[in-house]
Amino acid sequence: MTASERGERTRYFSTDELVTFGTGVFAAHGLPVEDAATVARDLVAADLRGLASHGVARIPIYCKRLRAKAINPTPVLKIERPAAAVASIDGDDGIGFVVGHRAMDEAVAIARTTGIGMVGIRRSTHYGMAALYVMQAIEAGMVSMAFTNSSPAMPAWGGRTNFHGAAPLAVGAPGGRHGDYVLDLAMTVIARGKIRLAASRGDPIPLGLALDSDGRPTTDAQAAFEGVLLPFGGVKGSAIAFMMDVFSGVLTGSAFAGGVKSLYFDLSGPQDVGHLFIAFRPDLFMPMQQFRDRMDEMFERAKAMPRAEGCDEILIPGEPEARTAAHRAVTGIPVTADVIRALAEEAAGAAVPLPDGRSDPFAAG
Ligand SMILES: NC(=O)c1ccc[n+]([C@@H]2O[C@H](COP(=O)([O-])OP(=O)(O)OC[C@H]3O[C@@H](n4cnc5c(N)ncnc54)[C@H](O)[C@@H]3O)[C@@H](O)[C@H]2O)c1
Repeated sequence: MTASERGERTRYFSTDELVTFGTGVFAAHGLPVEDAATVARDLVAADLRGLASHGVARIPIYCKRLRAKAINPTPVLKIERPAAAVASIDGDDGIGFVVGHRAMDEAVAIARTTGIGMVGIRRSTHYGMAALYVMQAIEAGMVSMAFTNSSPAMPAWGGRTNFHGAAPLAVGAPGGRHGDYVLDLAMTVIARGKIRLAASRGDPIPLGLALDSDGRPTTDAQAAFEGVLLPFGGVKGSAIAFMMDVFSGVLTGSAFAGGVKSLYFDLSGPQDVGHLFIAFRPDLFMPMQQFRDRMDEMFERAKAMPRAEGCDEILIPGEPEARTAAHRAVTGIPVTADVIRALAEEAAGAAVPLPDGRSDPFAAG
C-alpha cells in the first residue's frame, strides 16, 4: 500500500528548515559543521530543482554509511599537481559532496591561471546531483564538465548483469538573461534514485526502463531496483557510459568496471567512486559579455523554432529544473510522507528536531 493510499500526506518545508535539519543530522554523525551544511544545502538544492530522488530522501542512506564507517566524516584530501593544468586528488573516502566541491574549487583555481583546469579524483563517494558541480563553476564564470562513475546499475551492451553505473554526465556554461546551460543526465533511461523512490512509494514504473534480476522487462519498481536499468539511447548511451568509467574510474585510479561499491547494498567499506572535472575560461575566446550574449542568442533561436505537435514550449537543458527551483523557493519544498517518516527516525537517532512543515504550500508560487 502506498503512503497516499494510507491517507498520509506530503508536507511543505522551507529551504532553511531543511538545511538546518540536515546540517544538524550530519554534524551529529561527525561531519564538521561547515561540511554538514554543504551536504545539507546540496540535498535541499536537489529537492528545490525537483529532483526528490537526490534530495533529503537520501539523508538516511548517507547517515547509515557514516555509522558503518563507509564514509569518512573528516577526510584530509591529498592534492597533487603533476602538471600546471592538472590536479590529482585522493578524496580519503569523504562524502562525495564535500570532496566534489573542493575538487571543483581546485579545477576553477587552476583554470584562472592556466585557462583550463583538469582534476581527477579517486577514493570519493556518491556525490548526488551532478549539476551541483557545474553550477559551482558557472558561478565562477567558467564552462565545465563533470564526470563520475557509480555503483553498477546497468549492463555493458548485450549483458544482463550490472556493470556500468547510472553515472551522470554534467556540463555547464554560463548564459546571460535567459539563464545558464546546465546539462545533467544519468546514463540510464531513468535515474536509479527515481526507481528507488517509486519502489519506496509502491508505485509501478513504465516498461522499457529496466529488467528484473532474471533479465525480464518489468514494471515493478522494487524488482527493477534489484535488477538492471537500461541505458538511454540504446547502444549509444551504453557507449557513453563506457567513457564515463574510463574518465572517472580507469584514469583517476579509483574503482572501475563494476568495482564501485553499491550505495545501498554494500556497507562493507568505502565506495571508491571516481570523478573527473574539467573547467575552462570562455573569456579566453572572446570577451565574457559577448559569450553570454551568444548563449542568449542560441537559446532565443532554439525557442523560436517551429514546435512539434504536443510541444507548448521549447526549453533549454537546465531550464525545467531552474523553473521548479524558482517555484519551490516560494511554495516550499514538498516532502512525501514516506520520506518524512524516514527522516523522523534519523531525527530521533541524532537528537535533532525535525521541523513540522506545513500541510499546504506556503504561497501560490
Ligand atoms: N551521483 C550519481 O551517481 C547519480 C546517478 C544517477 C543520477 N544522478 C542524478 O539524478 C538526477 C536525474 O538524472 P536524469 O538523467 O533522470 O535527469 P533528467 O532525465 O530529468 O534530465 C536530463 C537532462 O535533460 C534536461 N531536460 C529535461 N527536460 C527537458 C526539456 N523539455 N527540454 C530541454 N532539456 C530538458 C534536463 O535539464 C537535464 O539536463 C541528476 O541530477 C543526476 O545527476 C546521480
